Amino acid sequence: MTPEPLIPNRLDDEHDALVILDQTLLPARIVYRSLYSTEEICRAIQTLQVRGAPAIGVAAGYGAYLAAKYAMQSKREDFFASFYGACDALAASRPTAVNLFWALNRMRTCAAGHGNEPVSEIVAALRREAENIHREDIAQNLAISEHGLALLRPGDGILTHCNAGPIATSRYGTALGPILLGQERGYGFRVFADETRPLLQGARLTAFELQRAGVDVTLICDNMASAVMKNGWVQAVLVGCDRVAANGDAANKIGTSGVAILARHYGIPFYVCGPTSTVDLDTPTGERIPIEQRDPEEIRSLWYEKPMAPAGCKIYNPAFDVTDHSLIAGIVTEKGVARPPFTQSLRAMLEK
Ligand code: MRU
Repeated sequence: MTPEPLIPNRLDDEHDALVILDQTLLPARIVYRSLYSTEEICRAIQTLQVRGAPAIGVAAGYGAYLAAKYAMQSKREDFFASFYGACDALAASRPTAVNLFWALNRMRTCAAGHGNEPVSEIVAALRREAENIHREDIAQNLAISEHGLALLRPGDGILTHCNAGPIATSRYGTALGPILLGQERGYGFRVFADETRPLLQGARLTAFELQRAGVDVTLICDNMASAVMKNGWVQAVLVGCDRVAANGDAANKIGTSGVAILARHYGIPFYVCGPTSTVDLDTPTGERIPIEQRDPEEIRSLWYEKPMAPAGCKIYNPAFDVTDHSLIAGIVTEKGVARPPFTQSLRAMLEK
């Protein structure tokens, strides 16, 4: 029997809440949490209860709508101040995934476009816009899955890093989408999931999602990827992305660029999968992508019963790195597969 799909974000309009799947508790427990304020939604994004670039964008869209709804009884100028203040707070929750800013810009533009209407009409329009962002993401992920699957052959070994599955999006997933679609169609893929230090999204989430779907998945520590590739077990690498610069440089979970360098060494195609909302033509190259720095305790003590590093030891904990465009064979979006040179192909794709 196919297990119940896990829903990372759901609007509970009746109770003025955003219901999220708490991803920090997986794989041990499947727990949904209702969030009733902008502060709670910001905190859930910061602590990775809701995570993955598209899922963060959807959460922010609903968060902006709910902020407007909470402020509905205020005076008109206070309503706008509360709404725009909430958008700013949500935008400050994480810096790297551009989908967050993209979704909030859509919400701000929607509010401005209905700015002369009664507040109740503005709130109704914001609800429709948040739902559109959610709905579009589902459709885009399905299209990404089809385009990605066309790059693969039955029986392929596929390596992935971090988690770009259904719970990181709205359904299907980006990098895991082609794998899950292939599973439905009997492709018999063998997947290697990097555990993805330090927060173990590969172990806790990717291995969990793929195993649940019946995919042949093998979990490896990040430093085993080279050995697995050398053994000839990997025919393609698929990863997600948090922001793709205009020249094709792609930010994704820390460790992704190392996987790309290995893939180049072994002659394995390296594909980046994401919706076009992740492509940021205003960021010319990867050097301009802001990289989130996270709490040193995530490395020092988070997963251990006792400290695994000396007290006071310096720690560097960037959450993302940038894969150079020269290492990427293709960027798979809902509109197709962009190929090098990406400066031209991405612009043409976005103008389609
Ligand atoms: O810090 P996270 O867990 O939000 O990082 C997520 C990733 O790096 C994903 O690969 C990316 O957001 C794409 S999700 C479809």
